[in-house]
Amino acid sequence: MKSESRTPRGDLRTSRWLRQIGIPAASLALLSGCERVAEPKFVVSPEVAALDAQLQQAVQQHLAAQTGTPVRPKLLGAEPEAFGGEIKLNAHLQHGAEVYRQNCQQCHGPSGDGAGPAAEYLSPKPRDYRKGVFKFTSTGYGNKPRREDLVRTVTRGVTGTSMPSFARLEKKDLDAVVDYVLALTHRGELEILLAAQADSDGELTDDGVQELAQSIVDQWRAADEQIVEPVVKMPAFTPESVAKGQEIFQKRECFKCHGRDGRGGLAGGIEVGVDAWGQKTAAADLTSGMLHGGNLPVDVYRRIHAGINGTPMPAFKDILAADPDATWYLVHYVLQLSDQRRHGVQFPAAVEPKPAPPVALDNPAEEESAQ
Ligand code: HEC
Ligand code: HEC
Repeated sequence: MKSESRTPRGDLRTSRWLRQIGIPAASLALLSGCERVAEPKFVVSPEVAALDAQLQQAVQQHLAAQTGTPVRPKLLGAEPEAFGGEIKLNAHLQHGAEVYRQNCQQCHGPSGDGAGPAAEYLSPKPRDYRKGVFKFTSTGYGNKPRREDLVRTVTRGVTGTSMPSFARLEKKDLDAVVDYVLALTHRGELEILLAAQADSDGELTDDGVQELAQSIVDQWRAADEQIVEPVVKMPAFTPESVAKGQEIFQKRECFKCHGRDGRGGLAGGIEVGVDAWGQKTAAADLTSGMLHGGNLPVDVYRRIHAGINGTPMPAFKDILAADPDATWYLVHYVLQLSDQRRHGVQFPAAVEPKPAPPVALDNPAEEESAQ
């Protein structure tokens, strides 16, 4: 106990100081009177809550042994040597949890379930990490992101959504918070696997739990070999390359979801279904000038080539395999589209105008239960 609490104390003190000068309003509740904040707890997932009491307890115990608690988090598969030993690894994760509580929790929730207090007002919803599904990856459809992908998203933010850029964080804080997000993600993934195993076998064995934990670690490690690199170099960006892209956009029926003019759901109430998180979704408005996944040519290439995890946006890598330049032409067309409003191109009013976000609170029952 002693050695564990010695290292983080310095960090706690610094962050208290930071809170004091940074966001005094938010810190008041934490600082008023008490030295120690009541220990935060993770929310139990519905899959676990559906089990009988004994199995629930077994899941909770194994889960805590593998992935820790909000105050003493553990990261599945982390190699202490890479962090300079066990004590430093623990301090790193505890620091990550602290940075998370200050910057991310209000949207993503203390358990990483995307259900923080701000979430009900946001569209799209903050990511529920527990499914282990991420959209803006450099890996193919269905694969885990690489750690760099998460670092990039957190640094840049997701343009056009409420996910802010955290470029202002120091590298130490950014690294720690990304590892804490990974810890929450792995915890969520393991929780669902353990619940399923407990439900089917009526018990959990140490070996069984170990195997499930390892399967998560293996999938995440594999992501480093699944990076999508363009097959050919980008051709020159010319009026002709854009025109070719426009042709392919129509021929490959991108318009079925994105609309003839690229404005997606806005342009004509096109239904594309729900995403992996159960939210009604729409094809991106490619004319908005706010590409969520980034506006570098390679970002757009990856979205088209590999699709977008957890959403109806399919991968076109096989469909376009015969013509290696085709994906780049589409990239040119998308980039051109997304730049048009800036150059004064007017789009007619949307067929079905939608109220601007934040979404209206039209369900008083929900409003009440959230308080
Ligand atoms: C104001 C709300 C808000 C805050 C604060 C916030 N996020 Fe997000 N975050 C979002 C939303 C909304 C999305 C989903 C964007 C989408 O689906 O396109 C998101 C998505 C993400 C994703 C998933 C990206 C992907 O590829 O799927 C990660 C990782 C993430 N946030 C990390 C963080 C971290 C780390 C912090 C704190 C340092 C943070 N967020 C703070 C709203 C927020
Ligand atoms: C089945 C419906 C569907 C089809 C077909 C489709 N898309 Fe999409 N597309 C989507 C959805 C849904 C999203 C938004 C995903 C999200 O939630 O972020 C999207 C997002 C995108 C994005 C990312 C935009 C951003 O903000 O970063 C690009 C680029 C894109 N689509 C291009 C294309 C191209 C090019 C084609 C044809 C080759 C195509 N799409 C076909 C549904 C579709």
